[in-house]
Amino acid sequence: MVRKKIVAGNWKMNKSYDEGIALVEQLVDELDMDKVGDTHIIIAPPSVLLQPVTELLMFSPGIAVAAQNCHHEESGAFTGEISAAMIKSVDADAVIVGHSERREYFKEDDALISKKMKAALDKELMVIYCCGESFEERKTANHIAVVEKQLRTALSDFSAKDADNIIVAYEPVWAIGTGEVATVAQAGEMHTHIRTVLSSIFGDAAQNMSILYGGSVKPDNAAELFAHPDIDGGLIGGASLKSADFMSIIYAMPK
Ligand code: 13P
Repeated sequence: MVRKKIVAGNWKMNKSYDEGIALVEQLVDELDMDKVGDTHIIIAPPSVLLQPVTELLMFSPGIAVAAQNCHHEESGAFTGEISAAMIKSVDADAVIVGHSERREYFKEDDALISKKMKAALDKELMVIYCCGESFEERKTANHIAVVEKQLRTALSDFSAKDADNIIVAYEPVWAIGTGEVATVAQAGEMHTHIRTVLSSIFGDAAQNMSILYGGSVKPDNAAELFAHPDIDGGLIGGASLKSADFMSIIYAMPK
């Protein structure tokens, strides 16, 4: 297995049903597959759009679909939640877990995130596991330790075989939706450290794991970030909501 280059778009709580369909149709129509090359694309729409987007992309094998969250139980009295089994049942491919917005607004911690990952992997979904430090943690030079602790708490129960289905996204909280992007040196230092931690958990399998950077990735800064050998792609928020911007970011991946 080789390490995949991935550009994923996390729409967060944006787009009505019709707007979401229109955006995916535009991407399918306009994406130049020669320029995409071997970059894998993932789209993470809100859950009401999972089924129609999966159906629209049935003949676009290079574009996978991810949910933005799941519950760790398979079913039950958990009003407002969706399970990994439900995500799988609409033929989606993946689920994002541990996004900093879920950590902050919904008080999710790495013990819970680990359960969500287990639920998703049990249903043969890929997992995009998000980690990242706050501004305060970076300012006090605790960023490396904070991210390492997140990774070890969430991932230590998984095997090298599971690692094939885990993508890590490093998203420094201070760079999300702020327009302030981590420098290549800051992101690169963290990605290299993340891979060292992954190696200590998963052994050689860590070399094949994709580590994405997220936080204000835009068409004008993507190429520089993606050129770093340990930055295997991006998890894109705001810029994934406009097809032209999302496509330029996809094309910025080195061939
Ligand atoms: P922005 O690209 O809008 O900063 O969001 C990043 C993000 O949180 C992706 O999950």
